[in-house]
Amino acid sequence: MTDVHAAWLPAEAFRSIGTRNVLLAADGGGLVGTVAAEVAHAGDTFGGSLRRGTGGDGADLVLSVGAAGGEGFELSRAGGVTTVRGDGPAGLLYGLFHVVRLGEAAFGADRSPERHQPAMTRRMVDHWDNVDVHPVMGQVERGYAGGSVFWRDGAARGDLARVRAYARLLAACGVNALAVNNVNVHATEAHLLTDRLGDVAAIAETLRPYGIRTHLSVSFAAPVTLGGLPSADPLLPEVRHWWEAATRRVYDAIPDFGGYVVKADSEGQPGPFAYGRTHAEGANLLADALAPHGGVVHWRAFVYNHRQDWRDRSTDRARAAHDHFVPLDGRFRDNAILQVKYGPMDFQPREPVSPLIAAMPSTRVAVEVQATQEYTGQQRHVCYLGPLWSDVLGFGPWGTDGTTVAGIAAVGGGLVAVSNVGDDPFWTGHPLAQANLYAFGRLAWDPRLDPGAVLDEWIGLTFPGQSPRDALHAVMDGSWRTYERYTAPLGVGFMVRPGHHYGPDVDGYEYTPWGTYHFADRDGIGVDRSRATGTGFTGQYPPPWRDVYESVELCPDELLLFFHHVPYGHLLHSGSTVIQHIYDTHFAGVEEVAAMRERWASVAGSVDPALHGRVADLLDEQLRSAQEWCDQVNSYFHRKSGVPDARGRHVY
Ligand code: GCU
Repeated sequence: MTDVHAAWLPAEAFRSIGTRNVLLAADGGGLVGTVAAEVAHAGDTFGGSLRRGTGGDGADLVLSVGAAGGEGFELSRAGGVTTVRGDGPAGLLYGLFHVVRLGEAAFGADRSPERHQPAMTRRMVDHWDNVDVHPVMGQVERGYAGGSVFWRDGAARGDLARVRAYARLLAACGVNALAVNNVNVHATEAHLLTDRLGDVAAIAETLRPYGIRTHLSVSFAAPVTLGGLPSADPLLPEVRHWWEAATRRVYDAIPDFGGYVVKADSEGQPGPFAYGRTHAEGANLLADALAPHGGVVHWRAFVYNHRQDWRDRSTDRARAAHDHFVPLDGRFRDNAILQVKYGPMDFQPREPVSPLIAAMPSTRVAVEVQATQEYTGQQRHVCYLGPLWSDVLGFGPWGTDGTTVAGIAAVGGGLVAVSNVGDDPFWTGHPLAQANLYAFGRLAWDPRLDPGAVLDEWIGLTFPGQSPRDALHAVMDGSWRTYERYTAPLGVGFMVRPGHHYGPDVDGYEYTPWGTYHFADRDGIGVDRSRATGTGFTGQYPPPWRDVYESVELCPDELLLFFHHVPYGHLLHSGSTVIQHIYDTHFAGVEEVAAMRERWASVAGSVDPALHGRVADLLDEQLRSAQEWCDQVNSYFHRKSGVPDARGRHVY
């Protein structure tokens, strides 16, 4: 056995293609060459054949490429022949992986022509990987899957085989862009833009055969730190020239380079504020350098005051991104993309959708989600995030009539996930966390897909010919809701251990500068973000949400404590009081994890023992951790409120 366990796409997943006679009616290498190699390899494994050329006699599967170019494809089946016609080479590659997904179903009944086309132009994963091992954050910031697949101990990893295998996995779920380094650009990583560009070019070359463009996180201060200029002021001509020249060299090395990712004026990263310039001026500087080459800058909107005074109830971190960026709408270049986290805070298991996403009609917006499970169990807990992302993407900022978050991202900058992959033998630490990466790609391709069906695809592609399907659904389908139940209640968020963010610490952030508070006292809990009496955050939403969230009566239960401070006896729509809801959900969450663990134990013997053992061990830890969450949260609120559990269960 190799030290790398298969993710989706083990050889067996290609059986339906590998047993067929395939005609590839397209010339050339590049992505068409990749398709040819995939089919040939499957044929070698299972006894099928690949012919290149024209004349489809005897072929079961005919693959061809149209002249239009693009990522879409058409699939049909008639007269015993399945046909995939890619709009361009990329379309053919995605079409091939679609046939893999369908398995035998692709060679069954006739199909009238179906068109498939990605909803989002850019479907991107951002790696928070460091080149040097960071003293606090390690090789991968918020990474829970071992080291980086790209970097190790200050240098590029020489062996790119793993990167190639990763590119294949990404292409098979539809990802087409990747940023190779952390948004927090430290001293060594800054050099990837200049003298260490060769390392980036080698990665780009490895990703290219699978249709993935390479992006780079850069430091706004690079003209000073790398270029020796006295200033990085975006309006100075010498700064512009520096970026133009640096960018030209990037494109000389990587002709299909995707562009830059920038975290500026955020958590200590340098930015345009130092020069009294706006974020539009900052972003446009880089956009202009990239424009002649067809690149884009992803400019992150995660800008807030991380040195807040907890005594000051008027400052609201949730407001920050909207306050900073809305006045700049319309001032960003076309190739400057504002990358907005899905919620106004920070990747909590439950947040309202960020109002900024809907507030920049004249700016291209990309929506960022976090596949790496910083706040959702750190790849020690099963937490299938497909349903969370699906809810976000389907959310209508103007109610049910208008466009959705997915619609805004589709006409804007697409969808971005912080990657959860590392050099762990199972790729993602927790083997079942692979499903999150897979689901991200699929939802970026088609946000209307049912997350349960996407999970089913992942199971089919990862465990072909095996039978843990029902057990995996039982363990994973509702796992995000389960995680929500035993952690912070009703959308209030955080309550995690400061710093590493694993496990409970109800007051851990309460008196810190980070702006993440729950304000629990003996009478009640929650953050008043109303216009009437609170921070006014509800006013950042258009109707109907500005009124729905403003009203304690209308606000959905799951977000009540995000928007309102209420007494413990407040009656939820569910019929429960807030305090009883806290008790009930925490006890229930632990029971659900115990049931997940039992269910998993029952399939020992029907999956790879190494994988089974890893998941079983992690479920032990998840149960321990869920119990700890339950006991701390319930005890805390029992002590604060003095209200006993109506069902008399044990609280400490
Ligand atoms: C979170 C996370 C940081 C990260 C930041 C970001 O705050 O804890 O590690 O750098 O998000 O998105 O930039």
